[in-house]
Amino acid sequence: MRNLTLPDSSAPREGARRHAPSAARNLAPILAVLQRVLPESGRALELASGTGQHIAEFARRFPGLGWQPSDANPEALASIMAWVEGIANVAAPIRLDACTPGWARKFEVWNAMCLTNLLHLISTAEALVLLQEVPKALADGGVFCLYGPFRQGGVLVSEGDARFDASLRAQDPDIGYKEIEWVQGVLCDAGLEVVDLVAMPANNLMLITRRAPR
Ligand SMILES: C[S@@+](CC[C@H](N)C(=O)[O-])C[C@H]1O[C@@H](n2cnc3c(N)ncnc32)[C@H](O)[C@@H]1O
Repeated sequence: MRNLTLPDSSAPREGARRHAPSAARNLAPILAVLQRVLPESGRALELASGTGQHIAEFARRFPGLGWQPSDANPEALASIMAWVEGIANVAAPIRLDACTPGWARKFEVWNAMCLTNLLHLISTAEALVLLQEVPKALADGGVFCLYGPFRQGGVLVSEGDARFDASLRAQDPDIGYKEIEWVQGVLCDAGLEVVDLVAMPANNLMLITRRAPR
C-alpha cells in the first residue's frame, strides 16, 4: 500500500468515522447516476470503500441490494464499520486488495460493483489487473460503476487536473491519471459493454459498463 498525501489526507475524524470532504461533495451526483443504472436487488460490492461515507448512503438508497464494503487498507475498515453501523443491508467490511490477481474468484458473482477514486492512485499495471478482475467478478448482466478523474482524448482536461496528476507522479512516477479510452478498452476486451459515460462535476467521469452474457 502506498502512503500518499492527498487533498483529503488531513480530513477530520469523529470517533472511528473518518470524513473525506471530497466524498461528501461527490456523493449526490454519483447517487443520481446510480439511481439510473443499478439493479433493484442482488449483491453489490464496493471496492476501495475508503471512509465508508459512500456505501452508507448507497445502502440506504438501494435497500434491495445487499452491500459489501471493502478496502485494501486495514485502517479503513474501522471507519467503514462506524459509518454503516445499524444499516441492515450492509455486511461487515472486508480487506480486499483489488490489484491482486485472482481476487474475483474468491466470491460468488456480484450484480453490481462500484469503484470511486482509485485508478489514479495506482500504477497502470495494477489498474490492468483490477480492470481484468472486475468482469470475472460480475454476474451476467451485472453493472460496474467507475468514477474518478481521467485523461480524456490524451489530455489532462484542466490546470487543476494537471497539478493533481503531477503531484501524484511526484510521489510515485508509476501512478497518475489513466486514459478513459484505455480503461474502456480493457473492460470491453474482458467482456463488458459500455452502457454510458457520464460527465460529472469537477471534470470527473462516471463510466457505466455491463457484463454481457458469457
Ligand atoms: C481516495 S480513496 C477513495 C475512497 C472512496 N472510494 C471515495 O471515493 O471516497 C482511495 C481508497 O483506495 C484504497 N486502496 C488503495 N489501494 C487499493 C487497492 N489496491 N485495493 C483496494 N483498495 C485500495 C485506499 O485505502 C483508500 O481507502
